[in-house]
Amino acid sequence: MHPRRSLGTTQEVVRLPGAETSDEGAAEGGSEFDIVVIGGGPGGYAASLYAGAAGLSVAVVEKEKVGGTCLHRGCIPAKEFLETAAVFRAVAGAKEFGVQASQPTVEFAVSQDRKQKVVDQLHRGLQGLMKQRKNQVFAGTGQLLGGHVVEVTAENGSTTRITGRNVILAAGSVPRTIPGFDVDGKYVMTSDEVLSLTALPGSAAVIGGGAIGCEFASMMADLGVQVTVLEALPKLLPGCDQDIADVVVRSFKKRGITVRAGVPVHGHEPGESGTTVRFGEDEELVVDTVIVSVGRRPLSDELVSEDSGVTVDERGFVVVDEWMKTSAEGVYAVGDLVATPQLAHVGFAEAVLVIKQILGEPVFPVNYDAVPWGIYCHPEVAFVGITEQDAKAAGIDIVVKKDPFGGNSRARILGETEGVVKVICAKTADGRAGPLLGVHMVGPWVTEQLGQAYLAVNWEATPDEIAPFIQPHPTLSETFGETVIALTGRGLHVG
Ligand code: NAI
Repeated sequence: MHPRRSLGTTQEVVRLPGAETSDEGAAEGGSEFDIVVIGGGPGGYAASLYAGAAGLSVAVVEKEKVGGTCLHRGCIPAKEFLETAAVFRAVAGAKEFGVQASQPTVEFAVSQDRKQKVVDQLHRGLQGLMKQRKNQVFAGTGQLLGGHVVEVTAENGSTTRITGRNVILAAGSVPRTIPGFDVDGKYVMTSDEVLSLTALPGSAAVIGGGAIGCEFASMMADLGVQVTVLEALPKLLPGCDQDIADVVVRSFKKRGITVRAGVPVHGHEPGESGTTVRFGEDEELVVDTVIVSVGRRPLSDELVSEDSGVTVDERGFVVVDEWMKTSAEGVYAVGDLVATPQLAHVGFAEAVLVIKQILGEPVFPVNYDAVPWGIYCHPEVAFVGITEQDAKAAGIDIVVKKDPFGGNSRARILGETEGVVKVICAKTADGRAGPLLGVHMVGPWVTEQLGQAYLAVNWEATPDEIAPFIQPHPTLSETFGETVIALTGRGLHVG
């Protein structure tokens, strides 16, 4: 049964044409599979692991390494470097705890090596798992032709054709670029280049104050880089609740990051010492490096031939319905390739949804309005559900309660009191706090605390229902618990 109470029925359980498992099981060395997956990133490998666990024969076509952007050029390496920044902050602040340590310096090449070790270990683990599930990996670039045929072109130009009773497109995304900022790996970088650096620049302009921009700005500033964030929209972290974004901006400013919102960028000219970035109304800034983090675009170039019957929209996203079905029968698309939140864990969920359908099991669509978000800058951000601003704009009556981490004993012990938990509930007819609609957190380890808030929002639980559940003391999670207790009408520590 699906946890969301308000949802009606599941999709009608129909065994899709071609849903039957091959009689031979995994077609070892054969060219016909139950499923051919193009792309071995989080969406693709989740589909292949989950299908393999159900005994389906799976081919995965991957042009680089399985693990995709998330493992090799995204989530994992970025968080590894953010951990270097956290260690740096801890050592720099050690004296306050009576621990004598000299002021730290960073050798970024060592951090780069450590990052690579972590990535390589996870990569080997994933390869092992895929082997165990009898997923067959084809090295090369896949293109979907008509009739569920996938042509795989290897690096040396040789081609192989394989067929899937079902095909899953999971080719992912690449960084978007902007005119006037050609990526050269020296003056202009995207996340791809930043994550392979062995030395940090002295100064950087980060263009785009979204998730990637804020993570890089935070990491680099903590490691001594002079950072300026240039964001085109009026605020950083668009999509985040304003109270949460405000805490991040305050912390950034306190740590020496220059934050400029509402400024368009016009181009840059490399000179003798760095490059001059032109932005706003006739403003200039000289920096060693520009980091472009203005979003990611789907990697659908030449992914599907016209004969495939798959529709791609003008932005390059593969068009799917809520069941991840493309316009071609038996062809699905998941992950960053489709216009849903570009998050690895959303790709996982979409992949599982597809495999369950292929198996003929009951399924529910992903509720994109209530997926968990985590941004790992310092302080961390984590949220699920509607923001106060969006609720008000939509005319929804809400009850809001906030509890800052300043009152949390564990946060005091950690010396990390910056931040707040904000819970948004629907207002009941008698003015009480009804089901939780959104939970927004900023502060220490909030990405690890979001789990119970995510469950509460998706279960449409009310404060009365969840307030009696105990939070261990002393923990950071008490701040969420206290906020919920206060929403019942009488708080313990929170008014
Ligand atoms: P984003 O869409 O989150 O943010 C891009 C930012 O760039 C926006 O604030 C936008 O207004 C701004 N922008 C666009 N054009 C601009 C211009 N010409 N000048 C100045 N600013 C401009 O994209 P981002 O940060 O690149 O991340 C890409 C994807 O990866 C996102 O969907 C994000 O959710 C995901 N991601 C998730 C992470 C996480 O969950 N921890 C971490 C990193 C990325």
